[in-house]
Amino acid sequence: MSQPVAIITGASSGIGEAAARALSSTGYRVVLAARRKERLISLAAKIRERGGEALVIPTDLRELDQIQRLVESTLQAYNRIDVLVNSAGYGKLVWLDEQTQADIQDQLQVNLVGAIQITREVLPWMIAQEGGHIIQIASIASWVGLPTYSIYAATKFGLRGFLEGLRRELRGTGITVSGIFPGAVDTEFDQHAGVHWKTTRVTPDWLLLTSDDVANQILKVIKKKKNNVLIPGIMRLAVWVNAIFPGTVGWLTAKYFYRKEGKTVAWRDAGE
Ligand SMILES: NC(=O)c1ccc[n+]([C@@H]2O[C@H](COP(=O)([O-])OP(=O)(O)OC[C@H]3O[C@@H](n4cnc5c(N)ncnc54)[C@H](OP(=O)(O)O)[C@@H]3O)[C@@H](O)[C@H]2O)c1
Repeated sequence: MSQPVAIITGASSGIGEAAARALSSTGYRVVLAARRKERLISLAAKIRERGGEALVIPTDLRELDQIQRLVESTLQAYNRIDVLVNSAGYGKLVWLDEQTQADIQDQLQVNLVGAIQITREVLPWMIAQEGGHIIQIASIASWVGLPTYSIYAATKFGLRGFLEGLRRELRGTGITVSGIFPGAVDTEFDQHAGVHWKTTRVTPDWLLLTSDDVANQILKVIKKKKNNVLIPGIMRLAVWVNAIFPGTVGWLTAKYFYRKEGKTVAWRDAGE
């Protein structure tokens, strides 16, 4: 019973799934949360085959009662929560006028509000335990806003503020708050993005991360109790350039992002 326990949201694919495998292989009992139950069951079976322990709790982060049930069921089963990995999230990468009101609401809820709500639910237990680790998978989009990323970036910028405030709020409690800010990762993310733009620029292979790269970073962050990690490291340069030369970055993005319908212009010119 002394084995640590990690809740992982978004465990049905991509980074969350890789995080669950990585944490299990280092001795964590893992609680797998996402909507697609079959995927979670199959992942739990693979983890158990390798001698690990996994609990499946299908959860839709748009529903507060499901978030609360996830935390309650974890405590009923294990009576402790050592690590929370908030990986669930998605981006509809379309122009703002193409976002439905429901898409806007859902991205804010899943990426930002749901992550805050689950953190709020685990916090009293971590405080009582006098320790714990909250790890948020944020994004390079927490630092740089691009055309068609406006809603996604709003959620990810929001997370960065949340993490910074919470980290300072929890100083001295023994709880660590970490943000992992990846660039592009090869997952199912793009399948849900409904991209409606074209750009002549694609992420070169050498910059593209795998889910396992991010999962390994999660293990490092736990070991070293790090605050914020941007990966790959060169992304720090992009953040720096954007902060110092926002006008130039704006000009470049206007040059490279344009509507699929054929207008080689950015959103700000699209009505002309
Ligand atoms: N891929 C990238 O390039 C990239 C870069 C930077 C940051 N990120 C961030 O990394 C995180 C993981 O994304 P990924 O790349 O691994 O993409 P992914 O493979 O599409 O995984 C997304 C996960 O989010 C879950 N999810 C979506 N809506 C949910 C809901 N309503 N309730 C509960 N879970 C929900 C999905 O599970 P169900 O559909 O089964 O619910 C899935 O497990 C996200 O926060 C994303 O913003 C991704």
